[in-house]
Amino acid sequence: MTSLPTKKRILTGVRPTGALHLGHYVGALENWVRLQEQYDCFFLIADYQALGDHLDDIAGIRRSVIEVGMDWLAVGLDPERSTFVVQSYVPEHAELAMLLSMVTPLGWLERNPTLKAERERIEGDSEGVTTRGERVSVGFFTYPVSQAADIALPRAHLVPVGEDQVPHIEMTREVVRRFNRMFGETFPEPQALVGRVARLTGTDGQSKMSKSIGNVIYLFDDAATVERKVRGMYTDPTRIRATDPGHVEGNPCFDYHDAFNDNKAEVEDLKERYRAGRVGDVEVKRKLAAALNRFLSPIRERRAQYEERPQLVADVLVEGSRRAKRVAEATMAEVREKMGILYFK
Ligand code: TRP
Repeated sequence: MTSLPTKKRILTGVRPTGALHLGHYVGALENWVRLQEQYDCFFLIADYQALGDHLDDIAGIRRSVIEVGMDWLAVGLDPERSTFVVQSYVPEHAELAMLLSMVTPLGWLERNPTLKAERERIEGDSEGVTTRGERVSVGFFTYPVSQAADIALPRAHLVPVGEDQVPHIEMTREVVRRFNRMFGETFPEPQALVGRVARLTGTDGQSKMSKSIGNVIYLFDDAATVERKVRGMYTDPTRIRATDPGHVEGNPCFDYHDAFNDNKAEVEDLKERYRAGRVGDVEVKRKLAAALNRFLSPIRERRAQYEERPQLVADVLVEGSRRAKRVAEATMAEVREKMGILYFK
């Protein structure tokens, strides 16, 4: 008998491919910190998944694993209450991914819109010597299946993620439903939970904040860097002089004021004057940089403390992975039994 967890379980994760930014915070991290109070949370550092498009930078993945651990501790994820997991330290992730790949029709991957967009981006990349058909590996193409295994392994009920990940969670529901139908009720059907700001625009105002586009403000940018990036931000392109009435909607400076400025009266005052043509971009940006630095400074301070104690961070990751492995072994024993993959007594 497996004992039922008393609290509902959450699994979510990131790929360790670089520093976390403001988009991660409002789209995910802030939500995760709060969810720890009510749920049994598993936070996964998906280093195997990261190999899908970072096979040429394993050193970068190695650095990022510990960096993500530091970032998580700095924003308030709590290893006393939650489990931090390094994917490759729990090989059952790979084993279940292989089994679920047998249950997943190829067509479900072919129609996945997030995967399709990522695949087009990688295939369109003209760098390197490979031909178009050689740029996307089988491992990359099947990463949504590996993600379904990440979620199913601890039998998670909820998956807090950014909007772009929703198709993967929907596919996970279909995969576990199919598994349960074929082999008997084993996994709960997980649900996605999208953060407060589903999609934070980048500083260029053109697209989602994303490291690969380079329109990001990192959680650990210093105060001067934040000021410089905010000064260079896109605003309202239709506005030429500070006395022209300006647009607040679709203006990333105001999106960020809404998301991060704790002084709501200041934000309302700026919006009103902006619409009336009574405030310039310089003041809007100066106040935005100050608000962002107010918000980021306690996170930066906590992060600095962990940077001085990398061993503590490593211990948290090893200990969490050990706990996750025990959970994973129990799930896999049941999976093999249900599937009848047991030949010898
Ligand atoms: N694909 C996710 C991302 O890029 C990371 C991830 C891996 C994940 N496994 C997961 C997210 C399981 C949710 C659940 O951010």
